[in-house]
Amino acid sequence: MKLERKDVLGLKELSADEITSILNTAEYMRKIVLSDSKKVHYLRGRTVITLFYENSTRTRVSFELAAKYMSADTVNITANASSVAKGETLMDTGRTLDSMGADVIIIRHNMSGAPHHLAKYVKASVINAGDGMHEHPTQALLDLFTIRRHLGGFDGLKVAILGDIYHSRVARSNIIGLRKMGATPVVYGPATMMPVEIEKMGAETAPTLEDAIENADVVMGLRVQLERQKKALFPSRSEYAKYFGISPGKLKNAKKNALVLHPGPVNRGVEMTSAVIDGDDSVINEQVTNGVAVRMALLYMLTGSEQ
Ligand code: CP
Repeated sequence: MKLERKDVLGLKELSADEITSILNTAEYMRKIVLSDSKKVHYLRGRTVITLFYENSTRTRVSFELAAKYMSADTVNITANASSVAKGETLMDTGRTLDSMGADVIIIRHNMSGAPHHLAKYVKASVINAGDGMHEHPTQALLDLFTIRRHLGGFDGLKVAILGDIYHSRVARSNIIGLRKMGATPVVYGPATMMPVEIEKMGAETAPTLEDAIENADVVMGLRVQLERQKKALFPSRSEYAKYFGISPGKLKNAKKNALVLHPGPVNRGVEMTSAVIDGDDSVINEQVTNGVAVRMALLYMLTGSEQ
């Protein structure tokens, strides 16, 4: 099935039916990712460009692999090694890539709304790979996909989202997506990292970490985003770990075998102990694999054809 839209900019714009279609297509793509040959021709003749103004390992590499597994031509641009560093505007960079025949531009930018701005000026499909403190739609889609694979659906699930909510585009996209799919996102973190009116986005707030984790089906840790903090928002890493970090002891309040997710990269021993990261209920590595499948699904549903 194709998506009836040019761009994927946020979970806010996607309907529950569209999300379900993406997750269903990702199930099919996951089989290709896990197969021996990993090569299909759905994107043969298409050009996929990643345009990253911020660092990335998982998102950039998984988009590149997703495109390559489907036989697209791929180009990776990092802002500091391109004409952006000479002062070119995002609009002109986009139009330049358009003129070279880009079919899809995948953009990560430190400014919220940059992908939406770019999408107005290019014929290519634009996929948001994370914009400032706004949205990270493909991360939320792969999180939803991982949850659905393990728990069968979303109705009635309690998903605890813990940590640096304020700076987290992952939290925002997940809150929107989980609500649309029928789950209840419950957030908790340091008061200095909790946005005002987060409830308006659809999240419930918990008064304590224990309340957030109590009976949760899924526990999602978030990275402490030191690079986005203008001043220290907690006294020290060890205090953060003690009061807000996720340990096996704290997880005892969750449902038995509650899934443990983290978008990565993890600050080991800060947001989660190694025992949790590497524990039996952790699906953090599986999230990464599923990320390739979800990104294959999106590229295919925007521009692919069966060949
Ligand atoms: N989860 C995530 O966006 O990771 P990267 O920053 O490595 O892409």
